[in-house]
Amino acid sequence: MPLVTSVEMFKKAYAGKYAVGAFNVNNMEIIQSIVSAAKAENSPLILQVSAGARKYASHIYLTKLVEAAVEDSGLPICLHLDHGEDFEICTACVDGGFTSVMIDGSKHPFEENVELTRRVVDYAHNKGIVVEAELGRIAGVEDAVKVNTKDATYTDPDQAVEFVERTGIDSLAIAIGTSHGAYKFKGKPELDFARLEKISNLLPGFPLVLHGASTVIPSFVAECNKYGGKLDGAQGVPEDMLLKAGTYGVCKINIDTDLRLAMTASIRKHFAEHPADFDPRQYLKPARQAIQNMVAHKIRNVLNSSNRL
Ligand code: G3H
Ligand code: 13P
Ligand code: ZN
Repeated sequence: MPLVTSVEMFKKAYAGKYAVGAFNVNNMEIIQSIVSAAKAENSPLILQVSAGARKYASHIYLTKLVEAAVEDSGLPICLHLDHGEDFEICTACVDGGFTSVMIDGSKHPFEENVELTRRVVDYAHNKGIVVEAELGRIAGVEDAVKVNTKDATYTDPDQAVEFVERTGIDSLAIAIGTSHGAYKFKGKPELDFARLEKISNLLPGFPLVLHGASTVIPSFVAECNKYGGKLDGAQGVPEDMLLKAGTYGVCKINIDTDLRLAMTASIRKHFAEHPADFDPRQYLKPARQAIQNMVAHKIRNVLNSSNRL
């Protein structure tokens, strides 16, 4: 079974009103744990690589590890570039074995975003590769102190229709209140479902994407803090909101922070309990299991994607 694009995955997800998990990968253990969970749950799966992950592990190691995961598991996996910021990184990934790329032109003015995205779509479609783009700005850890008015940041529904039509993209990441990292809300978590519903109604059948969708499960934050972490005030998107998003055309949900928290909590606990250990296998093995448990939890309770293959 070779790597696949997300086309069939999204068709089924849209019809079935569930979402496919897109999990960020940076090394072998993370890939193994995510793939084991997806295999056990019989779930569709997207593995995504950020520019930072490419820098950390290198393109070739990550693609070869993912190819090994496909061969070992027999799962139809989609390999996706997360937040490609320019034409060059997208074409490098299209030419370098990825089956899906994201061009994130959301920091540019609308016309520039359209033009850049259109160029990437032309290049990728010519080679059978699909493209995700972003309209509106999803806040991130870097943007936490930046003051943006709600409507300047969130995706405008009418513009979304124009953007999809003019670019020919295969999926669209929208901003409705989620954000990257572990500190998503200062007070009560709130997503703009009225906006999501409007976008979804204006783009029937079209796959939407939610970034910044970690739940930041309080027990994991507590576990990290218990063993020396300092994650006070960390808060994510409640699971029921993500499940609801899956019924409004959101076919892809991005999760990274929750895997980092699970891995880090496990490693912190291991060293607190076994301070003399220095064999990486001794602390990476339980960490790998912790990520696997987290991904299985997501597939069952957030994505609703078990037994969809
Ligand atoms: O959206 C960002 C992802 O969580 C990837 O994070 O750029 O630190 O690899 P990264
Ligand atoms: P989280 O930081 O909420 O896990 O979001 C990850 C993401 O959107 C990757 O593109
Ligand atoms: Zn993202």
